[in-house]
Amino acid sequence: MKIIQAATKEQMSKLAANILIDCVKNKPDAVLGLATGGTPEETYRMFRQNVKEKRVELSRMRTFNLDEYEGLGPNHPMSYHAYMKQHLFDPLQLRPSQCFLPKGDALNLEEEAQQYEELIQKYGGIDLQLLGIGENGHIAFNEPGTPFTSRTHVVELTPNTRDINSRFFDKKEQVPYRAITMGLATIMEARKILLLANGERKQKAMTRFIEGEIAEDAPASILRKHRDVTIIADPPALTGINPDKITEVY
Ligand code: F6R
Repeated sequence: MKIIQAATKEQMSKLAANILIDCVKNKPDAVLGLATGGTPEETYRMFRQNVKEKRVELSRMRTFNLDEYEGLGPNHPMSYHAYMKQHLFDPLQLRPSQCFLPKGDALNLEEEAQQYEELIQKYGGIDLQLLGIGENGHIAFNEPGTPFTSRTHVVELTPNTRDINSRFFDKKEQVPYRAITMGLATIMEARKILLLANGERKQKAMTRFIEGEIAEDAPASILRKHRDVTIIADPPALTGINPDKITEVY
């Protein structure tokens, strides 16, 4: 596992955007796994900028997002689909046929989860998976206790996750109770993983992930068994990490 310490969130985002760009340049038909939330917003901005400046060809790239809230369709402003349209799909004029998210408004969520899992396999799996980490150590919406063997599934969000994510909604009551998420085994099959974390709020989860036991109460800890993981984080998020484990500093 490579742990890169970036001086600021801006630096972290710049390094992350470069990794995403390199992936698509080296493999124009790459399948990118994407995350939403506050952490990658700047990465997406820099990715868009790089694509334009370097004239990177994206017509053959495919994207698969990690998760979506129950009941929220692509036109709901708080859906992850709307987030992706705003930050990536629309500005880069990506075709709907190349961008996939679980359908939160599907009539049968369990069936949708299974179909989404099959779709990922159909496109040959994920080349590079971008991840954030929750304050409770979740990756995607795999909350603590999720089996490491999990595939794309329907999940009950913890009160803590609903609380934290309520900052994106007008009122806490609007935060859905359930979501569809890629599973931990699905994420582990990505050929390369890039996890970003910034800020003191992530320090506890990062310490548990990197320094603690590999156990299901710390979903991210399974990543330590993956052979190609890069973590880019700022100093506050890495405060609890043994400095010997930090491989590069920017
Ligand atoms: C988002 C996702 C989540 C977030 C995590 C951190 O698609 O799957 O696991 O990455 O909750 O969120 P932020 O970046 O808002 O702190």
